[in-house]
Amino acid sequence: MKPRILVTRAVFPEHLERLAEHFEIDANQGDEPIASADLVLRLADKQAALITGGDRIDAATLAGAPLLRAVSTISVGTNHIDIAACTARGVRVTNTPDVLTETTADFGWALLMATARRVTEAEHWLRAGRWQRWSLSQFLGADLHHTTLAILGMGRIGQAMARRAAGFAMPVIYHNRSRLPRDVEEACRARYVARPALFEEADHVMLVLPYAPEHHHSIGAAELAMMKPTATLINIARGGLIDEGALANALATGKLAGAGLDVFEGEPQVDARLLALTNVVLTPHIASASRPTRDAMARLAIDNLVAALADRLPPNLVNPVTIGSR
Ligand code: 8YV
Repeated sequence: MKPRILVTRAVFPEHLERLAEHFEIDANQGDEPIASADLVLRLADKQAALITGGDRIDAATLAGAPLLRAVSTISVGTNHIDIAACTARGVRVTNTPDVLTETTADFGWALLMATARRVTEAEHWLRAGRWQRWSLSQFLGADLHHTTLAILGMGRIGQAMARRAAGFAMPVIYHNRSRLPRDVEEACRARYVARPALFEEADHVMLVLPYAPEHHHSIGAAELAMMKPTATLINIARGGLIDEGALANALATGKLAGAGLDVFEGEPQVDARLLALTNVVLTPHIASASRPTRDAMARLAIDNLVAALADRLPPNLVNPVTIGSR
């Protein structure tokens, strides 16, 4: 008998076909997340779940899923999954790194350029019929070329961001939990700095670090006050890293020139204080959203799932200790 799995969100038809070769599927083919009470009910008879970054797997969910052996997320981030609780129960957790690195770095640059050069603000103004004449001082933005790019979190995506900076002749500074080997720093043309120096020296700050509870609101009023008033802040990591109230205040009072946000603490809800501002570019968590990349992420998540349920080592096992347990 094929193992039974839950697919929590719509995937492309070819993904469902591939899943059907291996599993008996209970699929939500909509984009509406399954409510947590429903999730528990639907996981009660499942051996695995194919989920996305918007589906929470916590200890309470696991308690209602006695047969669960694997959770495969179509995301590199795993902050929506209680890994410790999964590990304690022998549930294998897998994610989808690497395949989204370049696409996400491309988008980081798109958001940075749109923010620094006020692209969306100017477009909204034009569409509102307000363009009467050209003016020397219209929509003056910040330069990127020859300015300092600061990257907080220098993993795969941070490094891909840094490599692109060479084309803009931008010096790169970074801060990370651990300093990179010298050859990697050289390949990225990146200079390691202490955390305060990162905020003080930057013309543009890019957040690319993974979310962990200890990083909650780690970009708050103090960090924003260290930044130049002409600087921009870009977040393609996780919403909870930034104190959104403090950010809205800094943007509204001219302490920070602009922000570009692809992720939000309460997404899909966006703080009304941010929505009211014109100097912030807001996008709905689309950094990895190219057709080839989303396809690659789903395929990799399926590879992970097939291996995990066949007791083979999945390509991207987050909690290796679970291999050999059940
Ligand atoms: C996903 C992401 O689009 O991979 C991640 O961690 O944040 C995005 O690439 C999102 O999480 C959907 O699962």
